Amino acid sequence: MKIISVAMQKGGVGKSTLTRSLAVAAAQAGLNVLVLDMDNQQSTKQWAARRDAPLPLVSFTTEIDLPGELDRARAAGCELVFIDTPPARSTEALTAVEYSDLVLIPCTPDIESYEQLPRTLRVARASERPAAVVLTMATPNSRSEQETAREVIQAMGGAQMVGVVHRLKVHRDASREGLSAAELEPGGKAACEIAGLWDWVGSELQLSTSAIVHTRKAS
Ligand SMILES: Nc1ncnc2c1ncn2[C@@H]1O[C@H](COP(=O)(O)OP(=O)(O)OP(=O)(O)O)[C@@H](O)[C@H]1O
Ligand SMILES: [Mg+2]
Repeated sequence: MKIISVAMQKGGVGKSTLTRSLAVAAAQAGLNVLVLDMDNQQSTKQWAARRDAPLPLVSFTTEIDLPGELDRARAAGCELVFIDTPPARSTEALTAVEYSDLVLIPCTPDIESYEQLPRTLRVARASERPAAVVLTMATPNSRSEQETAREVIQAMGGAQMVGVVHRLKVHRDASREGLSAAELEPGGKAACEIAGLWDWVGSELQLSTSAIVHTRKAS
């Protein structure tokens, strides 16, 4: 069983949205996937309650219960766990990272996010966990913004920028309906971006699924 935590100290950068998008992609790829929401806001748990589909399973957990939840998931044959963490310097995020095989760090192309990024990178480094940055809410059609972000992230060291998710209304619309952007608009721009990122995650964690093979063949 592989564990991915989605963490970033800065609030509102798209942690929960990215978690849900990737968890839906994993479920569609046929993986037995679980999302653990560690944020007291429980926005991912609420998203699941709005959802009309049984997968992915979403459950709220605390720092104390996390090891037991992970043991139960492993015993139940779960293949992939996403942990959605709260913002700020939360002990939940620190604990989630310790248990993770990969830390995904959503980062918006703003100075406020760039200022917080080194702290989150340090958390991953302290636990010796591989970390990767996903540029989120990027301005559509702004190549220069993307290039600047790549340079800033590279200059910090410790993690590569492995994907870009543009600021698109479909993410908000999908959230309202308990869906992912790819479910609301299959084949749309957001769906393609998430598919590309899911492809990267699959190869990084050596997940073998038919959907990943299919994506690779298509590109
Ligand atoms: N790529 C995107 N394009 C447009 N809107 C987005 C995108 N990603 C997230 N959003 C919207 O931005 C808001 C914040 O996103 P989200 O809740 O995922 O952030 P978060 O990092 O989990 O926030 P918090 O730190 O409070 O947990 C939500 O309304 C969400 O629908
Ligand atoms: Mg959140």
